[in-house]
Amino acid sequence: MSESPVRRMANVNGTITPLEDARISILDRGFLYGDSVYEVFRTYSGVPLFCHEHFDRMENSARLVHMTIAQPREEMLNEMRRTAAAAAVPKDQDIYVRWHVTRGSGALDLVPSRDLKSSYVIIVKEVPKWNPEFYSNGMRLAVTHVRRNPVESLSPDIKSGNYLNNILGVAEAVELGADDCLMLNPSGLVTEASNSNVFFVIDGRLVTPDAQSGVLRGITKSAIARLGSEIGCPLHETKLRAEEIVKTVECFVTSATREVMPVIGVRLTSGEWRQFPPGGGEVTRRVARAYKESVSRYVRENSGLQLV
Ligand SMILES: Cc1ncc(COP(=O)(O)O)c(C=O)c1O
Repeated sequence: MSESPVRRMANVNGTITPLEDARISILDRGFLYGDSVYEVFRTYSGVPLFCHEHFDRMENSARLVHMTIAQPREEMLNEMRRTAAAAAVPKDQDIYVRWHVTRGSGALDLVPSRDLKSSYVIIVKEVPKWNPEFYSNGMRLAVTHVRRNPVESLSPDIKSGNYLNNILGVAEAVELGADDCLMLNPSGLVTEASNSNVFFVIDGRLVTPDAQSGVLRGITKSAIARLGSEIGCPLHETKLRAEEIVKTVECFVTSATREVMPVIGVRLTSGEWRQFPPGGGEVTRRVARAYKESVSRYVRENSGLQLV
């Protein structure tokens, strides 16, 4: 079915099978309630990018939902390596790794029983191939009526397996003729897209919504923050009202799999489109270039982490 040289494989609590044969219990709380946390990362030349940062964020998500991950890091890394080996990943092929941990299976009850043991699923497959136009031209975002969950209800620091808020956001954006949503929080502050952080160039400054606005602490975003000063584009994390988007001259999104992806236009709540330079303006291109260089540096310095 897939033309990828990578065999798509899953590892469910140590049992490795082709992806389509993988099974979890219908009593699994991840399935029943979205009671799960997860991470996605990708490899470059076999090295999982920002591996420790993803493990740290996973442990923090688990801590915030009072879940104990049954396996230590080293064991999970070995399971990822075993899954990648079963996927017969060629040396020159980058892979996508999704690591999901659920609170486990038990009674049909919101209250988790005390003896639950967490379950894990690892999915290894090819890196998603985004529409090339998203890079050559840019993505279109729409400000949606669906608002981002307020931080007081659900901390965005929890990277949980429940994406209904984001699914409703992106579904509305597609209805509005865009590729992804730009969600506001209940106070009208800009937050993020359905699965990426958003950056703007306003009044000559590179800005992105701050954590209190209600965004995931993206690991790609942290890398951009570190690089920003080096390349003369220091990143300002701030509160950004939706009305300020009209002052924007460039916009881009970031995530582990999208890297730095330009935005060609944002549909405002008025229905008007704010347009940006095709393929990204000068700052976007500079950031994208610096990010690529930093990835190469990371791979050189962390060759010992090889998954493949
Ligand atoms: C809601 C949300 N925001 C931002 C991101 C980007 O995070 P990262 O750069 O760590 O991939 C993601 C990635 O999955 C996400 O789901």
